[in-house]
Amino acid sequence: MRQILTLTVNPALDVSTSTDRVVSGHKLRCGPSRLDPGGGGMNVSRVVQRLGGQALAIYSAGGPTGEAYRRLIEAEHIPTLVVPIAGSTRQDITVDETATGKQFRFVLQGPELDELEWRSCLALVAESIPKGGYVVASGSLPPGVPEDFYARVARLTREHDARCIVDASGPALAEALAEGVFLIKPSRRELGEFLGTTLDSDQSQVEAASSLVARGSTEFVALTLGGAGAVLASEAGVMRLQVPQVRVQSTVGAGDSFLGAFVLRLAQGHDAATAFRAAVAAGTATAMTPATELCHRDDVERLEAELTASAG
Ligand SMILES: Nc1ncnc2c1ncn2[C@@H]1O[C@H](COP(=O)(O)OP(=O)(O)OP(=O)(O)O)[C@@H](O)[C@H]1O
Ligand SMILES: [Mg+2]
Repeated sequence: MRQILTLTVNPALDVSTSTDRVVSGHKLRCGPSRLDPGGGGMNVSRVVQRLGGQALAIYSAGGPTGEAYRRLIEAEHIPTLVVPIAGSTRQDITVDETATGKQFRFVLQGPELDELEWRSCLALVAESIPKGGYVVASGSLPPGVPEDFYARVARLTREHDARCIVDASGPALAEALAEGVFLIKPSRRELGEFLGTTLDSDQSQVEAASSLVARGSTEFVALTLGGAGAVLASEAGVMRLQVPQVRVQSTVGAGDSFLGAFVLRLAQGHDAATAFRAAVAAGTATAMTPATELCHRDDVERLEAELTASAG
């Protein structure tokens, strides 16, 4: 088994609850709430753990919210290295509107990191990169962190003979691609924004994903399309998978679950096609769970078996 390191420079304490209707000017009485330690890289570590693997998680944290975050992570027994910061870890808020089934997600920008703090994150990454393994840098960059942060992570990863996976958008993604990475996992909106197109046909999606591989920016593009499945492009060609039919409750964390399963199967020595099926299974298994809850292992394995059977 190859080792996995994840990086979450902008973690979030996810608060989720429900209310009948979201309307202005009233007190909105809410139902029970739950707290989850979220953020891209950390969710990847949590999914890897749920599926029977382990991924060391580096994250930054500060303030009382950072303390609550640390406790929640400890309770899940995720191996971690923390970079303390002066600011307070952000909270994200998800509200399910029970009368309509709509979901409202308030995503905060996060505390500002100073140069010493973000450089400490990079230094810890450099010390911890598993030779021959995988580094997953995922999620938004908080204020103060330079746009080439993931590009720097990609460079360090290459220098340490490991493979860098980036799940980001906007300039952070563009800079990482200019540096060169192993795999990216954009959603349709993220890849469309990067290329300046809408990617609304099957053909445009395949061409967009393949073009980044052809340019040498990345070895793999896993383009996820929500309920419409995903496309995987590499030098070996293009694969497309539809999602299995399930009852969808909340897609929060679906992309992170996709990536967690993908990197775990690769680390276990499986080929990209196998990893891709596991990834779609895990993303869909997370869509089946309510609010911010991530996938359950038995759902992932059942959906993975279904996708494998239909692949023949
Ligand atoms: N409505 C859905 N039904 C079934 N599976 C879904 C659904 N939405 C997401 N998934 C699963 O999760 C994967 C990732 O979803 P998606 O493309 O929405 O990425 P994301 O990273 O969560 O999106 P974004 O970062 O833009 O919020 C999909 O490939 C699919 O396997
Ligand atoms: Mg995403």
